[in-house]
Amino acid sequence: MMTMRRTHSCGILNIDDVGKEVVLMGWVNNRRDHGGLVFIDLRDRQGVTQVVFDPQNEATSHKKAHDIRSEYVIEVCGRVRQRPDNMANKNISTGEIEVFVYNLEILNIAATPPFQIDEHVKVAENLRLKYRYLDLRRPSLSRNLIFRHKASWAARSFLNANEFLDIETPVLTKSTPEGARDYIVPSRVNPGKFYALPQSPQLFKQLLMVAGFDRYYQIVKCFRDEDLRADRQPEFTQIDLEMSFVDVDQVIELTEGLISTMFKECLDMDIQTPFNRLVYQESMDRFGTDRPDIRFGMELKDVTSIVKGSSFTLFNQVVKQGGIVKAINAQGGAGFSRRELDELTEFVKIYGAKGLAWVKIKQDGWQSPIAKFFTDQEKSEIEKALDAKQGDILFFSADNSIVVNDVLANLRVYLAKLTGILDTHKNEFVFTWVVDFPLMEFDATEGRYMAKHHPFTAPKDEDIERIESAPDTVRSLAYDVVLNGIEIGGGSIRIHRKETQEMIFRALGIDDKEAADKFGFLLDALQFGAPPHGGLAIGFDRLIMLMTKQDSIRDVIAFPKTQKATCLLTESPSKISKDQLQEASIRLDLIDRDKKQDS
Ligand code: AMO
Ligand code: AMP
Repeated sequence: MMTMRRTHSCGILNIDDVGKEVVLMGWVNNRRDHGGLVFIDLRDRQGVTQVVFDPQNEATSHKKAHDIRSEYVIEVCGRVRQRPDNMANKNISTGEIEVFVYNLEILNIAATPPFQIDEHVKVAENLRLKYRYLDLRRPSLSRNLIFRHKASWAARSFLNANEFLDIETPVLTKSTPEGARDYIVPSRVNPGKFYALPQSPQLFKQLLMVAGFDRYYQIVKCFRDEDLRADRQPEFTQIDLEMSFVDVDQVIELTEGLISTMFKECLDMDIQTPFNRLVYQESMDRFGTDRPDIRFGMELKDVTSIVKGSSFTLFNQVVKQGGIVKAINAQGGAGFSRRELDELTEFVKIYGAKGLAWVKIKQDGWQSPIAKFFTDQEKSEIEKALDAKQGDILFFSADNSIVVNDVLANLRVYLAKLTGILDTHKNEFVFTWVVDFPLMEFDATEGRYMAKHHPFTAPKDEDIERIESAPDTVRSLAYDVVLNGIEIGGGSIRIHRKETQEMIFRALGIDDKEAADKFGFLLDALQFGAPPHGGLAIGFDRLIMLMTKQDSIRDVIAFPKTQKATCLLTESPSKISKDQLQEASIRLDLIDRDKKQDS
């Protein structure tokens, strides 16, 4: 039982408090016995305070202190005193004082934890996730969550001050096409029917604009059943917003204000606005990706026209078949060993490369398995295109443009990590917008055009006329915001006229019946005076991951899921009882997904 009220947290007392009588409560970080005295580091989320037990001062408490183990929860009452000079610890805010205890209560005992609660001790992630509540006691993780709280506060304050309304939208709803699979939930009262968990509040926020709310935001959970990576979770959080009567520049300006405010409030950093802007095609040409890390160069150069006449048949063939050849210059990399080059070749295979041609620029010319295929003229043109100097190494990829861009975009970042270039930029936050995305892309597996963002994105006015004749060339009013090579947000101006929306559905191969079944409510709403509107969503977990310099979004989420979408703490997903299945009118007959089913 607690005997008194807590007066202070464990992170707050300092030299100005000497002489005060205080009551602290918290967890035992560690206990040390020294010549009759017992020292305990008492911890709560604010910090650690050293408390001291002296048998001559308080025999009962001192005796109890001997029984204390790590992670016991205790209450101490005592007086703050200055530590002797040689015992002071200047590294922590409470390091010059200690609390001389005259009463100790043990509020709870603790079993020996499965790992030490110390951020410097390396622990397997599975074990950390199973005992997440212990993991969260470690200062590194708890700092991240406290930071996250501050950041969401800063975002809310900014949006509130800009007259945005925080409006909640349903979680049990209908499919919203954001490109992933839906999580589905059976309905007990409507046997055989299912809700989908929202991949985003996209359609509801548009309906809120039709309803006249003008400016909406929500810090909201989204659910996507997709393959997971270090920056993807099956449920994640967006700062989702939507505005009426705006154009692209207004949404971009608002978002820059939001992000720079968050950096100022949480990191006291001045982020320069406006952010850099790249049109999609330029981003693909120069970086091979629509989420370029523009902190460093090593840009992709198209050398197709130079090499297509060379005697290197491999490149010729690729070009004849409509492919391209691009190259990058890893400056100063001519020292790569054969083994390192083999490893790089293995690396690019992940992205579909059939090989990786390289050229080392040496004092006496090209050193490369493909040097013999090029004339001096071709060599010097390539060197010029890539700004190559002695000591550099050039890497070439030849294939269709999708593979070439993907290979070199990934190789570029991999090389920047490998050679330490990224390390020299690790304290920089460099933003870029990518704009003018194609509206749709042909999906070979589906055999039809798919929306590049989502099917509610408006085309550029001047491109609409080509929607049937040349759909690939239609650009959209979509924009992504990228930070250090990671997409942290995206959005668009939406279609607000029913006929345009129907036309885009048709172009995407969604016929009238399917459109009515899936999005009938949206088409209905668009006919009742929908205002022009647009918005964006920021991937909040990703932004916090970058702001706190973590490598995984799991480290900024209190209870994240594993790469296999499981929660090791609660052991979900899990089986449900026969009764629950019965109530949902479901009989399980699990099928083998990999085997073809009889139709
Ligand atoms: P989009 O699908 O681009 O847009 O999502 C917005 C941002 O959310 C983040 N994100 C994720 N973060 C963690 N785990 C995931 N699985 C995950 N998927 C996406 C990304 C992304 O940029 N409704 C639109 C927004 C709009 O048009 O207004 C949408 O959801 O950082
Ligand atoms: P080969 O003639 O197959 O020995 O290939 C010569 C060099 O070209 C090797 O370094 C291969 O790795 C490289 N290479 C093979 N295919 C490609 C490709 N599609 N793009 C770039 N380089 C390639």
